[in-house]
Amino acid sequence: MKLLILSRNAGLYSTQSLIKAAQQRGHDVQVYDHLMCNIIVEKSKPALMIGQDYFGHFDAVIPRIGASATSYGAAIVRQLEAMGIFVTVGADALLKARDKLHCLQILSAHGIDVPKTGISAGDTCAPMVYDQITKDRAVVKLLASTQGLGVMLAQSKSQAVSIVEGFHRVGHDVIIQEFIADAKGSDIRAFVVDGEIVGSMIRQAQPGEFRSNIHRGASSVKVKLSTAERDLALKATSILGLHIAGVDILRSKRGPLILEVNASPGLEGIEGTTGVNISDIIIRFIEKRIAK
Ligand SMILES: Nc1ncnc2c1ncn2[C@@H]1O[C@H](COP(=O)(O)OP(=O)(O)OP(=O)(O)O)[C@@H](O)[C@H]1O
Ligand SMILES: [Mg+2]
Repeated sequence: MKLLILSRNAGLYSTQSLIKAAQQRGHDVQVYDHLMCNIIVEKSKPALMIGQDYFGHFDAVIPRIGASATSYGAAIVRQLEAMGIFVTVGADALLKARDKLHCLQILSAHGIDVPKTGISAGDTCAPMVYDQITKDRAVVKLLASTQGLGVMLAQSKSQAVSIVEGFHRVGHDVIIQEFIADAKGSDIRAFVVDGEIVGSMIRQAQPGEFRSNIHRGASSVKVKLSTAERDLALKATSILGLHIAGVDILRSKRGPLILEVNASPGLEGIEGTTGVNISDIIIRFIEKRIAK
């Protein structure tokens, strides 16, 4: 197969791991930066250019679109779909998963349990929203947070409201979310490929920290999921229309809750922690799809 990986940085672990897996299975693989791709829209002739050149033949594209270029990256993926090329993540699914609020709206509408979450456009209603969400502490989260940056634990209503006001002042949207204390600073990452859980780990925040992001110093170990957790991860992935996903789950007294679903999940943490060659599983999945 001729494969293309869209990635801003060919040196990243995830990109390198996919390149290695593709080459080991005898495929030709190239990496392009999606910000170097140009879209040409014309009646019945969707086209893409890479710099000066028209896009050559590829059997499949693996988009690795990070948060820094979501909307342009999604436009490139949409163009590839219009050109009839198999992409491992479609533009719509990518956008739904990337927007934390949209993702929770869709999942909760399908009966999936999530931390209770609210948002108000202005400051005036923030105290009312807080009252609907919790009587205890709350997590206040930038809609655009990544790697735990912009995820804050407010110890009281007044603290939560002042954080919301501060972010509104600088033009950022924030959600107020029920704090799941039962998770004790941990979350689960379930990695799904083609309707199967191929690896799962539990991440534990450093002492004194509630965010279990590896970038915030959390540690991770392999974990066996309960049946409810497996079912939840697979259901969420399917609802969002994803073939490949990293599903983040909080363990709570009322059962597993979906925190978010990542449509461009990193491979370093999960491969390193579980010892599973997930890139190889992804490449085999693409082979299967192309053969169809
Ligand atoms: N409602 C919550 N209750 C308890 N812990 C939470 C809650 N929301 C977030 N956390 C903790 O904070 C961490 C970071 O939050 P979240 O995953 O929502 O944002 P992010 O990591 O910045 O986003 P991304 O994963 O897209 O980079 C989670 O992994 C979890 O450990
Ligand atoms: Mg996260």
